[in-house]
Amino acid sequence: MVSVSPVIGLLGGGQLGRMMIQAAHRLGLQVVVLDPDPKGPAAQIADDVVVGHYADQAALTALAERAQVFTTEFENIPSASLRFLAQHGPTYPDAASVELAQDRRKEKTLFAKAGIPVGPYITLNSPSDFEIVKRSHFPAILKTAELGYDGKGQLTVTSLDELSHAFQELGSVPCVLEKKLSLKAEISVVIARNAQGHVAVFPAAQNKHRNGILHTSDVPVTLPQQVVQQAEHYVKTLALKLGYVGVLALEFFWVEDLGLLANEMAPRPHNSGHYTMDACPTSQFEQQARICAHIPLGPTRLQFACRMTNLLGDLWFPDGPNKPMREPDWTKLVPPSNAWLHLYGKTEPRPGRKMGHITQKLGDA
Ligand SMILES: Nc1ncnc2c1ncn2[C@@H]1O[C@H](COP(=O)(O)OP(=O)(O)OP(=O)(O)O)[C@@H](O)[C@H]1O
Ligand SMILES: [Mg+2]
Repeated sequence: MVSVSPVIGLLGGGQLGRMMIQAAHRLGLQVVVLDPDPKGPAAQIADDVVVGHYADQAALTALAERAQVFTTEFENIPSASLRFLAQHGPTYPDAASVELAQDRRKEKTLFAKAGIPVGPYITLNSPSDFEIVKRSHFPAILKTAELGYDGKGQLTVTSLDELSHAFQELGSVPCVLEKKLSLKAEISVVIARNAQGHVAVFPAAQNKHRNGILHTSDVPVTLPQQVVQQAEHYVKTLALKLGYVGVLALEFFWVEDLGLLANEMAPRPHNSGHYTMDACPTSQFEQQARICAHIPLGPTRLQFACRMTNLLGDLWFPDGPNKPMREPDWTKLVPPSNAWLHLYGKTEPRPGRKMGHITQKLGDA
């Protein structure tokens, strides 16, 4: 493959990768994907695919030979793989930042060091740690320190007894026990920071979840401007502290007495930033591609108020999960104007699986 611009090597083959490739192609850039699935959402439209596992040395070597700059769309990528690729070209983000985001314990320690408040939590590495849990900590959410997503690896507990069962159910692995907070709102801020240290901040999104999975993101948010500015300040502080280069998202809780609290970070484009594809001059995915190709960051202003709604696999089973699958009637689901349907090319719809999203214009920004 001969190209004037660097070819981007992408670890991971899901929808975030697919949308980054779409953006890269609009900039004339080429992307090689490394993923175990040769037919995944990103591989379907990639310029080249290396089929293999993310830790497979031969596959990583093949990727390193075909690309000059590297990025990831999957935060549970082995950080050693990013470290290996870093010997062949820049990786945006770097392995150390990804490693921190992979472990809720490290993430919360990092937030504290950066002066970003988090909600009350206790680290539980083994049952011997249970004795430090006070009754006032309940109700609480037990979360595995690593490998959770879309609410998986989490259980709500209301007593020490339930905690003990839940810990076992989650595999007796290190966990954090977060006090269950009464959330007034959830917001997230996505930023892009390039190798020159330039930062572009996307408008904050207000998020609603269903069963632990993001359902809608509304932009602009309804919280006071000073809260939004505080959230933006926290994300920028975090990026600076990490020397981060890439797209970075930070999720926040807004709690009556405690104010703005950081929940978790994502070292990649974020589901709540999908609205940027339709409502901003530059999308979060385009910023990722620009950063990789050393093209200056694009403008991020909100062009109109909008709502992003996730489309889960449940929609394919209108008569129930065990009944025949049916492609939804998009003419009925997608508003006839000022709405954009994005499907991820996944051939196997499953309940709870993210299959696509819709952005709908709600009014002027
Ligand atoms: N301590 C808490 N108190 C109240 N609600 C919470 C708490 N922690 C999580 N939640 C709710 O559960 C949702 C998912 O939690 P979290 O972001 O930790 O999980 P996740 O599996 O990493 O999700 P994702 O990767 O999709 O963001 C939150 O957005 C929030 O709605
Ligand atoms: Mg989350």
